[in-house]
Amino acid sequence: MVILGIETTCDETAAALVERTEDGHGRILSNIVLSQVAEHAEFGGVVPEIAARAHVEALDHVIAKAMAEAKLSFDALDGVAAAAGPGLIGGVIVGLTTAKAIALTHDKPLIAVNHLEAHALTARLTDATPFPYCLFLASGGHTQILAVRGVGDYLRFGGTVDDAIGEAFDKTAKLLGLGYPGGPQVEKEAVRGDAKRFALPRPMAGRHNADFSLSGLKTALRLEAEKIAPLSDQDVADLCASFQQAVVDVVMDRLRAGLRMFRERLGTPKALVCAGGVAANQAIRKVLHRVAFEVGADLVAPPPALCTDNGAMIAWAGAERLALGLTDPLDVAPRARWPLSEVAKAARS
Ligand code: KG4
Ligand code: ZN
Repeated sequence: MVILGIETTCDETAAALVERTEDGHGRILSNIVLSQVAEHAEFGGVVPEIAARAHVEALDHVIAKAMAEAKLSFDALDGVAAAAGPGLIGGVIVGLTTAKAIALTHDKPLIAVNHLEAHALTARLTDATPFPYCLFLASGGHTQILAVRGVGDYLRFGGTVDDAIGEAFDKTAKLLGLGYPGGPQVEKEAVRGDAKRFALPRPMAGRHNADFSLSGLKTALRLEAEKIAPLSDQDVADLCASFQQAVVDVVMDRLRAGLRMFRERLGTPKALVCAGGVAANQAIRKVLHRVAFEVGADLVAPPPALCTDNGAMIAWAGAERLALGLTDPLDVAPRARWPLSEVAKAARS
């Protein structure tokens, strides 16, 4: 089964071709990602209108490149998948409408993929991870801990009540005059900083559920920065190190809570899977290894290029759904909001 996957929910215009064998293994035939980072950099974040226009301009070329690299024609496809949400609605409309046009013209099934489900299932493409597993999803727009029990079958243990972790890194970077996206910049500065210099809060630590809150941490950081302004290079590094350490401590505490909830409901998890750009952070990665080790689970970390937004994850989620006979009508609606709990449960035979 060969599926075309299209991703346009945020600031990456992406298309990929992925093959799924009958025994459920995946192979990436092509995976083209065009980042719009440069277009949004001067604004310190993604500007929805600019993103939507950039998707319109780039998507046809990105799809053509993905098809050419895989040496396939549209007729060879078994289905067309697009991220139908959640995300910036202008971009979602561009990707989903394009997928519909291809599906209609070439008489192929359409699969409207939930972007979060695509992140959640990526470990099955890269590592053939069996269900159920515990997922830590942390990106610029999402922060969640869930049990992935099957395609369309998710149990949410916690999420952020305000900012996403990546968003907190980005806002910290913006406040300190570092570039966008902020995560890599803050991590780089943190290496030469003193993590103990500023006493920042660890929001939600010790709570029984696995929820996150990050906006208070961001505010505390701003107050510390204002107290000592103007900032020297060392001040910036120390603020970054203190911030990152607070996030690391919070992630460790919240993941322990999430893994405990997993064990109570589903038994000991065999795998802890991470997804989203934040998992590229080495200090956070270390914590993931540690908490996985504590419960005797394997840490499954897909390569960074498949942790961040891409078309291969959309194609793969499309393939997993199509293999279960799950397709969508051509009038399926794009969705700005689409919680995983609302993704239809896969029919089980
Ligand atoms: O998954 P992703 O590429 O895009 C979405 O947000 O969907 O994640 C990007 C986010 C940004 O907020 C970025 O600052 C953060 O991931 N990020 C990092 C690191 N690399 C990327 N955060 C912390 N440390 C990093 N090394
Ligand atoms: Zn994403």
